[in-house]
Amino acid sequence: MATLWQKEYQVDDLVHRFTVGNDYLLDRRLVAADCAGSLAHATMLHSIGVISAAELDELRAGLLEIVADHERNAFEIKPQDEDCHTAIENRLTERFPEAGAKIHTGRSRNDQVLTATRIYLRAALLELMRHTISAAHAFLDLASTHQNTPMPGRTHLQTAMPSSVGLWAASFVDALLDDLSLLQTALDLADRSPLGAAASYGVPLPLDRELTARLLGFASVHGNVLAVNNSRGKIEAIALDAADSAVSTVSKAAVDLILFSLPEFGYFELPVEMCTGSSIMPQKKNPDVLELTRARAGTLSGIAVQLKNAVRNLPSGYNRDLQETKEPMLRGMDIACGVMEIMAETVRRLRVNPEALVRACTPELFATDEAFALVQQGVPFREAYRRVAANLDAVASADPVAALARRTATGTPGNLGLDDLRSRLEGVASARTQREAYVTAALTALFGREAAVLGGR
Ligand code: ARG
Repeated sequence: MATLWQKEYQVDDLVHRFTVGNDYLLDRRLVAADCAGSLAHATMLHSIGVISAAELDELRAGLLEIVADHERNAFEIKPQDEDCHTAIENRLTERFPEAGAKIHTGRSRNDQVLTATRIYLRAALLELMRHTISAAHAFLDLASTHQNTPMPGRTHLQTAMPSSVGLWAASFVDALLDDLSLLQTALDLADRSPLGAAASYGVPLPLDRELTARLLGFASVHGNVLAVNNSRGKIEAIALDAADSAVSTVSKAAVDLILFSLPEFGYFELPVEMCTGSSIMPQKKNPDVLELTRARAGTLSGIAVQLKNAVRNLPSGYNRDLQETKEPMLRGMDIACGVMEIMAETVRRLRVNPEALVRACTPELFATDEAFALVQQGVPFREAYRRVAANLDAVASADPVAALARRTATGTPGNLGLDDLRSRLEGVASARTQREAYVTAALTALFGREAAVLGGR
């Protein structure tokens, strides 16, 4: 099949292979999203009198066929097609030559690929937010159940002060709420319609950009057509950075859990179903999930840098370099969703061993508390510190639960503010659900059928 820009001469095979690379394979992930963008564009072309009602019906039928074929793995993008945009247009033109010849009126592959990418990224971000919210809920439930279960607080990994499983688990809820606000910002930026920006400069036709935005469930139109094209890669990078932040939060939890579930510590235990065995040592129960979480956090951060480097220093307007943003975007969002999903499950199934935790609260943990007991009697802190330091062996073991209760300031182990965390988390969760329902309803209305895969995920 010919490329869309076929001339009388034949482009060198080597050039074709080099420029297409694996883009035609990656584009399988964008087929459903591109069909949605194409149908919205065709609907708009009809509304401004560029195509007839009959032509729109043909294009809708053709695009629905492609979606159906794609769902049963029967829509092929060949290397000669270059990308999914060409494969879809060629297929439409084969089925309906006249209508097919009009579908590309007023658009470029540049705003077309931007549109498909935004639809895909929006779905991926909504999915990642769902897993992140569920991981945060798992940590919050753990914090509620073990609000007052003592746990040694550590700095430099050395035992430091009395703390609790509640503080440890709630720290991840707090951090994931920060990450969710970064993901929300990325979603807000991605959730604007690029369609109508064309090659980077608009077209001399009265395109109704607001209509296509509405049909695709976008929150708004992304205005300046040059800024739209210049944002390709940039918004994906913002999304990957937000994803990286969220994944690095759960990676810290994974690192803690690897350590504290060692038999030598025994604070936590991973259920056997979440562990893997060894091919040689029969007794092994390995935390591979946690280790791969740690490693993939690093991979994801590298991918985010890769994506940023592809677009750094580009001049204004479309440049083919932008194609190189697709693979890291797809791979990065896959990694993030996978990590977040399994970490939510791991935390949900984590077992806590209060006996081991209480046993670990050895006397030196209470040295600082002893100094503060003197402070309460009016001894200046520096003097109290010296007195306790001079007599460390005399520091007695104390009741860790009572020590936790003495910490009353906001956010301390005795005052975790779990209700506040829960209500913030519920606010984020309901905003996410509403956004997803709005998008699904728009895409379902556009196609007149269930839109399970239309977002591309
Ligand atoms: N596969 C291309 C990409 O991802 C599609 C856009 C091609 N546009 C162009 N002007 N060559 O960027």
